[in-house]
Amino acid sequence: MTVAAIVPAAGRGERLGLGRPKALAVVGGLALVARAVDGLVAGGVDAVVVVAPPGDEEAVRDALGARRAVVVPGADDRVGSVGAALDALPGDTDVVLVHDAARCLCPPEVVRAVIDAVRAGHAAVVPATAVADTLKRTGDAGVVTATVDRSGLAAVQTPQGFDPATLRAAHERARTLRAGGGPVVATDDAGLAEDLGVPVVTVPGDPRAFKVTTPLDLAMAEALVTAGPA
Ligand code: C5P
Repeated sequence: MTVAAIVPAAGRGERLGLGRPKALAVVGGLALVARAVDGLVAGGVDAVVVVAPPGDEEAVRDALGARRAVVVPGADDRVGSVGAALDALPGDTDVVLVHDAARCLCPPEVVRAVIDAVRAGHAAVVPATAVADTLKRTGDAGVVTATVDRSGLAAVQTPQGFDPATLRAAHERARTLRAGGGPVVATDDAGLAEDLGVPVVTVPGDPRAFKVTTPLDLAMAEALVTAGPA
């Protein structure tokens, strides 16, 4: 049986402002997408499907070097990009992870914990961390309308793990909703599984699995890589 991972890396990375796809940004001499794949393999993943920005498949292959991965073109948004990779999964996949290329420093222990939880029988698993900031709801002109009780809240990361049938059904539903003009608001795959009524369980996440989004995040990733294992 195979543990497979889908790595959505098809974002343009406009908030990073490098003028090239975020997944090709370099940290410590390695592209984010290559680091993300290395972390997955170190955590027990056997097969990887990377979703590249359409037209940049070759550049993503170059960045991956000798790593074994299938590269497929992505779509306009993350849900579409993950959906595009489902057909490329190996036939004997029994655990599938979805992992943002942008979370390139996720420790292998988190990957392992997610795989173990799916193997233990959970159909959908997410790494989660506590929320440190106080959260407010804001209205017009940024005026605070309420303080949110953060005790029941979690910040959710990737890799998110699924039994393959659940991930396929979740994306099938999203595709059907879209085709009918309906909204698909989920910003992660677990959200699509929740919409199906599937219970989503959490395992401990890790601050190093942060998503590289802004130039500050890239500088933080560079500093962590330079500092070595923490
Ligand atoms: O834009 P954001 O940082 O939320 O993207 C999260 C992940 O989803 C990134 O790794 C990005 O490359 C990927 N993505 C994608 N296809 C899109 C948009 C984002 O694969 N159309």
